[in-house]
Amino acid sequence: MPDISQSIPPRPQWRTGIGFLLAAIGSAVGLGNIWRFPYIAYKNGGGAFLIPYLTALITAGIPILLLEFALGHQKKASAPKAFALIHERWEWIGWWSVIFIMFGIMAYYTVVIGWCFNYLCFSFTQAWGSDPNTYFFKEFLHTSSGVWDLQGLNLRVLGAVALIWAVNWAITWKGLENGIERAVKFMMPVLFGITVIIVVWSVFLEGAADGIRLYLTPDFSKIANVDVWVAAYGQIFFTLSLGFGIMIAYASYLPQDANILKNSVIVAATNSFYEIFAGFGVFAVLGYMAFKQSLPIQETVTSGIGLAFVAYPKAISMLPFGTVFGVLFFFLLCIAGISSSISIIEAFTAALSDKFGLKRRQMVSLLCAFGFAESILFTTDAGLYWLDIVDHFINHYGLISVGIFEALVVGWLFKTETLKMHIMERMTPAKNKTVLRRAILNIWVFCIRCITPAALGIAIINSLITEFSAPYEGYPVSGIIVLGVGWLLVTHIAAMGVSRLPWKNRQEQE
Ligand code: TRP
Repeated sequence: MPDISQSIPPRPQWRTGIGFLLAAIGSAVGLGNIWRFPYIAYKNGGGAFLIPYLTALITAGIPILLLEFALGHQKKASAPKAFALIHERWEWIGWWSVIFIMFGIMAYYTVVIGWCFNYLCFSFTQAWGSDPNTYFFKEFLHTSSGVWDLQGLNLRVLGAVALIWAVNWAITWKGLENGIERAVKFMMPVLFGITVIIVVWSVFLEGAADGIRLYLTPDFSKIANVDVWVAAYGQIFFTLSLGFGIMIAYASYLPQDANILKNSVIVAATNSFYEIFAGFGVFAVLGYMAFKQSLPIQETVTSGIGLAFVAYPKAISMLPFGTVFGVLFFFLLCIAGISSSISIIEAFTAALSDKFGLKRRQMVSLLCAFGFAESILFTTDAGLYWLDIVDHFINHYGLISVGIFEALVVGWLFKTETLKMHIMERMTPAKNKTVLRRAILNIWVFCIRCITPAALGIAIINSLITEFSAPYEGYPVSGIIVLGVGWLLVTHIAAMGVSRLPWKNRQEQE
C-alpha cells in the first residue's frame, strides 16, 4: 500500500466553528429544500410523509452524516483518500461520488440556478405574462419534441449558466477561508432572512390556511407503499448532500478537538427544519392562488420544476407587491443553489489535491472550465429531458449505492471502535453520561452496519423493479441507456481509472 498517511504540508482549516457549520448547512440547504421537498411531501402522503421522512433521517441521514464527518475528520482527508486509508481497494468509492456529482448533478444543477437567475430578471417586469406554463416550457426553454431532438443552444440560459459558473469559480478560487467561509458567512444569514420574510408573508395571504392544510393533512393510506419510503430515503440523501464526498472534505478541515456528533446533529436538524418550514411558505402561496382563481387547490400543485417556474410566477403576478416577492424568491433560490454548488467544487479540489498535489487555484479553474463545458449539454432545447433522466438515475442509483458502500465498508471492514472513540473523545465533558453516550454510539454502529444498508438496499431493488416494468417517464430506451445508465457507468469507469493512478505527495500548498 502506498504511503499516503504521512501528513503533507498544512491542510487549510476553517477559521471558526460557525464558518464550518454555515458551509455544511449551505451545502445541505439548496434547491432541493425549497422546491423539491414540498412537492415530494405532498405527493407522498402530505403530513404522513413526515413519518418515513423522519425515519429516513434517523436511520440513514444522521448516521451517514456522522459517518462522513467522523471519517473525514479522523483521516484528515477528502473522500478518495479517506477510503484509500481504510484499504486501497475502496478508493474508487470516493472518486465515484465526487466524479458523478461534479460531472452529473452539478452540470444540470447550475443550469437550474441559471433558470432561477433568468426568472430573477423576469420578476422585474413579470415577463411570463398571463400564461407562465407556456412561457416556461415553450418561450423560455423552447422545449423540443424529445430527448434526441436537440435543436439549438438556448442563449439566455447559456449566458446565465456562464455567470453562475463564474460566481462559483470566483468563490472557490479564493480558497477555503477567504473564499467559501467568507461567502457563506454572508450568504447564509441573507438566505435565512429572506426565507423568514417569504414564509411569514405567505402564511398571512388569503387562502393560505387551505394550502397548509393540504400540506399537513396526513394520508396514512400512502405510507404502506414502498415507493413513498424510497422517496423519503432519496430526499434525505440529496438534501443532506450525503454520498457526495462533500461532508467528508468539509470535516477534514475542522480543528482536532471539534465535536463531531454535535455538529452532525446541528447540520441535520437545521436542514430538515429549514425544508419543513419552507414548505409552509410554498403551500401557503398555492392556497392563495387557488383562492384567487377559485380553483381546487390540488390543481395548483405541479412537479418540482413546475412549482418554482410555473406556479410561483402565476402567484407573483396576482400578489400585491408581487415584484418584490418575485425578486426575493428567485434571489433566494440563486443563493441557496450557489452555497450548495461551491461545496462540490471544494470536495473535488480536495480530492485532486490529496492525490496529485496539484496547485489549488489551477485545479479550481480547470474544474470550473470543464464543468461549464458540460453544463452546455443541458442548455439545448432538449435540456429539460436530459436533466430529468440524469437526475433520476444519479439520485436513485448513484447516491444510494455510494451510501450502501460507505455504510458497509466503514461498518464492517473498518474498526468502528476507532471511529467511536474518535467521536467520544470530542464530546463536551460531562459527568455520568458515559453510559448514554456509549449507547448512542452503539446504536449508530448498528445503524450503519445493518439498518442503513438494508433500507437503502430495499430502496434500490424497488426502484429497479419499477425501472424494468416501464421506461422512466416514458422516455425512449436509448435515452435512458445513454443518459441514465451510461452516465453512471462512465463515471464509475473513470473512478476506477483514477483510483489506480499512483499517489504523489502534495508539493505545495497555495
Ligand atoms: N443538498 C443540496 C440540495 O438540497 C444539493 C447539493 C448539495 C448539490 N451540494 C451540491 C447539488 C453540489 C449539486 C452540486 O439542493
